[in-house]
This record gives sequence, structure tokens and C-alpha cells, in this order.
Amino acid sequence: MSRVVVTGRVPEAALEKLRAEHEVDAWQGPESIGREELLRRVAGADAVVSLLTERIDAELLDAAGPQLKVVANVAVGYDNIDVPACTERGIVAANTPGVLTDATADIAMGLILMSTRRLGEGERLIRSGQAWKWGMFFLLGSSLQGKTLGVVGMGGIGQATARRAKAFGMEIVYQSRSEIDPQIAAELGARRVDLNELLTVSDVVSLHCPYGPATHHLIGAEQLAAMKSSAYLVNTARGPIVDEAALASALREGQIAGAGLDVYEHEPRVHPELLELENVVLLPHLGSATVETRTAMAMLAADNALAVLSGEGPPAPIN
Ligand code: DGY
Repeated sequence: MSRVVVTGRVPEAALEKLRAEHEVDAWQGPESIGREELLRRVAGADAVVSLLTERIDAELLDAAGPQLKVVANVAVGYDNIDVPACTERGIVAANTPGVLTDATADIAMGLILMSTRRLGEGERLIRSGQAWKWGMFFLLGSSLQGKTLGVVGMGGIGQATARRAKAFGMEIVYQSRSEIDPQIAAELGARRVDLNELLTVSDVVSLHCPYGPATHHLIGAEQLAAMKSSAYLVNTARGPIVDEAALASALREGQIAGAGLDVYEHEPRVHPELLELENVVLLPHLGSATVETRTAMAMLAADNALAVLSGEGPPAPIN
């Protein structure tokens, strides 16, 4: 029997699966586990099932000890894990691709609709108790039909967002490290372009690339300036892909029309200027937040940990 440390609350089904084979120490506090408590608990662990709110770095891996075999993140993004540090120590790192694709694409599409149709503004107006009535020019947004969606990062979530946007009558361009499957590209009518062209031709730019040194502030002042003044930026990927100060300034100056964000550069803090702006929709990292999706993520993370503990390769390895 091995020792599995789970760094935060996860659906019970995943804990049961782990407990059936191993001793499980799962943090059950309402708040995230503190760093010191985490370092103390991981000592002697054979597997760590981690949430994206916990930093899994060299210090933590060393605090766990040389018996640690696997870090299984309950997330597809793994910018919270120092993967090279895992690899150097012979530790398998794993994530949860696939199971949250549709839920995240739904939120991206939701943000596209919320920002282009000014749904947040409308909701805030009603709740404020201000008088309102239907008017020819009241809270006009912009239509999606015939507009262009630029997808930055055309992996599973980017493709699923493109599929939804196509159903709303949008044309698709994308920027990605590699060409996507030609059949999917043909179905979507998607054309691969470079980032600069994508920014200049898109009416909505939706970010779906992973976060790392190569994508830090991929969208900054220069890129925002390249966008149409009528365009919208949507981010359901990771906050630091966007320079939030530059975004706040572009939104304030009318350099772009609006934005929809589910993730933040210094999450959970939100740039104070964004909070003051009407033309940005702000969600609290809800991309994968459905009961079904979170359960599937936790089950896949458990499967990743269990496979490595029984000497097999995990279903979703990172390294
Ligand atoms: C992920 O899995 O990376 C998502 O951001 C979680 O919502």
C-alpha cells in the first residue's frame, strides 16, 4: 500500500477509487492548503494528486522525498508544476486533457456572447435598480454572424470553441504550432495564419494556448494595438498570457471594444482597473466548473496516480 496525498478537495468518487488501493491523506479544509502544511503532508508520499492552486516545485518534490513516483494534476494546464524538476527526479507528471474540453469551450463561447452582446452590462443595469426601457439604440452589441473568430492555440479546446463559433455563423482563423487534422480544418473551414494576421483580421480573439515562458504576455500592448477597435478578446486559458495592465488600458482607451476573462494574471486578484470597466466580463475561473467535468477530471487524475503506483504508464503523461 502506498501513500497518496491529495492537496485539496476533490469529488468523493476519486477519493474512494484511491482509497480502495492506497492510504489517502486528502486535505479537506474549506480554503486552499497552506504552503507549510502542504510541505509537511507530502513528506513520505508516493503520489501527489495536486490542484492547480498548489505550486509543485523542486522544494516540494524534495520535501516529499525520493520515494515520490507521480504528481497527478487535476487540471489540463500544468503551469503550477515544475515539469523539468519532476523529470530530473524520475517523477512522472500527469494531467487531465480531454475531459474538460467541452466545458471550457462552453465558457469561451459564453464569454464571446456575453462580451459581444453586452450581457454583463445588461444584468448589472437591472440589478442596480436603475430605470430602463426598450430602446432602438439601447445597449447595442455586435452580431457574430459573418464575423471572424481568431483562435490562438488550436488544440482540443480551441477546436471545440471554433466548432461552437461556426454554429453561430463565424469564420475561423487559427494560430497554432502545427497544422490541425486537415479533415477537421475542412469541416471548420479553418485557415492557419500567423499571430499578427490573426490579430488584424479577427473580430473576436479567443486564447487557448498553454501558459509558459513562450506565451507569457503573448498578448500585450503591441498585440492589442494590432486588433480592430471593434474586436473582443476572450481568455479562458491562463491569465499571464495577457498583460492585464495593457489590456485595461486598451479597454479604457477604446483600442478594442471589449473582453471576456475567466482567468487572471495574478489570480485570484483581478487588476483593479478591470473592475472599474463596463466593457469587460469577469468570471472566476469557471472553465471546467461542472459536476460532471470536475468528477471526470478527478477520476482521470486518480487513474494517472494509480497507474504509476502499480508500475504502469499513466493514461495522460506530461513528461
Ligand atoms: C485546467 O484544467 O487547466 C483548467 O483551467 C481548470 O479549470
